[in-house]
Amino acid sequence: MASDAAQVKAAREDIRELLRTTHSHPILVRLGWHDAGTYDKNIEEWPQRGGANGSLRFDVELKHGANAGLINALKLIQPIKDKYPSITYADLFQLASATAIEEAGGPKIPMKYGRVDVTGPEQCPPEGKLPDAGPSSPADHLREVFYRMGLNDKEIVALSGAHTLGRSRPERSGWGKPETKYTVCSYLLYVRCKAGTPARKSVLSMNCSIRCLYQGLHSTTTTKTFSPKQVGIG
Ligand code: HEM
Repeated sequence: MASDAAQVKAAREDIRELLRTTHSHPILVRLGWHDAGTYDKNIEEWPQRGGANGSLRFDVELKHGANAGLINALKLIQPIKDKYPSITYADLFQLASATAIEEAGGPKIPMKYGRVDVTGPEQCPPEGKLPDAGPSSPADHLREVFYRMGLNDKEIVALSGAHTLGRSRPERSGWGKPETKYTVCSYLLYVRCKAGTPARKSVLSMNCSIRCLYQGLHSTTTTKTFSPKQVGIG
């Protein structure tokens, strides 16, 4: 079933409202990414090749270690799915993610809709397709995972910039510490702070481990630590 265009348009407004009331931008971006990030360009068959196919709505996949906490994102999105049954989960997850980026002050992302949902939990990808946050050889690991999706080094670095949104939660992923809560590794945020533009509340920390991975690939990354007051949330 392809999504109904009028419903996609209406659902976008509901997602905007959801974002205004819950400030859930980070977890919705993560939801879209984790549904899509199982993609394997070397597998021809669908749905075995993974990717944005709505499989992340099933318990078996939500229970994968990398998806810890994403049940909360599904709970936020489910009422919108119920209201607009002619949108697939696959499209709705990507719509929510792209809308969250736009509403957080990011670019408008040109999107196309028409993704098809997997029909049952048996079509979910096996665990282990998403990147690991603590591998022994980070750059090699990232390349292995992202090259499998057909992406290159520049794209890995660009996508990792999504961590300008959100934070790590020890009770979910096991990563993150209170003292790194407002550590920001974002050139964009750095520029905004320099320019005196208060960052949005949803723009929080960057996982230290990811900062290390990021620097391993991109040695000129700007890293600076800001106080909560400096980023407009203290
Ligand atoms: C490069 C490999 C990546 C690794 C190892 C990684 C790992 C992680 C980890 C461990 C967390 C903390 C989750 C928690 O404790 O709740 C996190 C958060 C997050 N990740 Fe990634 N991630 C990667 C790539 C990406 C990409 C490509 C995107 C999107 C394009 C993304 C978007 C996010 C967002 C928005 C959050 C914040 C979630 C929240 O605050 O609820 N990540 N990531």
